[in-house]
Amino acid sequence: MDTAELKRASGGLGQKTTAGQITLGAPTPEDGPAVHALISACPPLDQNSAYCNALQCTHFAATCVLARRDGAPVGWVSAYLRPDSPETLFVWQVAVAPEARGAGLGLRMLDALLAREACRGVRRLETTITGSNAPSWALFRRLAEGRGAPMRHRPWLMEGAHLPPSAPTEHLVAIGPFPATPS
Ligand SMILES: CC(C)(COP(=O)(O)OP(=O)(O)OC[C@H]1O[C@@H](n2cnc3c(N)ncnc32)[C@H](O)[C@@H]1OP(=O)(O)O)[C@@H](O)C(=O)NCCC(=O)NCCS
Repeated sequence: MDTAELKRASGGLGQKTTAGQITLGAPTPEDGPAVHALISACPPLDQNSAYCNALQCTHFAATCVLARRDGAPVGWVSAYLRPDSPETLFVWQVAVAPEARGAGLGLRMLDALLAREACRGVRRLETTITGSNAPSWALFRRLAEGRGAPMRHRPWLMEGAHLPPSAPTEHLVAIGPFPATPS
């Protein structure tokens, strides 16, 4: 694919919004390498492959968010509408650069994503969190509280069964239902 084709494939790029010095928007195909570098700086996130990030920045751009400060990537959300449940937004990863944490950026990116046209029909959000990732639990609890939506969780991808023995169990977190968007 050439660049023009990649841009078309990424389709539905969300509206850009600004929050202080930080600009939020959908990624472009050229953002893949920067996203890969940002995730590498955000343990304990799984780094995945550069190819995976390239696909997120093209086919899944409408449901991903890149935050920039003075042009430099400082935040990232990858997500998709579940193929078997299009009313469910599955959040794959949230990454905020260490120097940008604690200022509400994680929550702002998730709110901006849920406000996009691509998420108009979304009634619930799902993600997975390992038992020890306190910042991630706090982020999604805050999101649920802010929307007045219930949050449930249960062990899902099990260490040694669905994941290698060295990988901690991922708990499936479900937030919703959200109130229906008036048409
Ligand atoms: C998890 C992460 C995305 C949070 O980003 P952030 O921009 O600092 O989060 P926010 O500032 O939006 O915080 C949202 C809420 O979570 C709370 N929170 C965030 N980090 C926290 C921490 N380390 N300990 C306790 N609470 C925390 C905040 O206090 C806030 O709640 P409040 O509004 O009631 O005060 C960031 O720490 C990160 O990138 N971690 C490494 C990657 C990772 O583990 N991602 C997990 C998701 S897949």
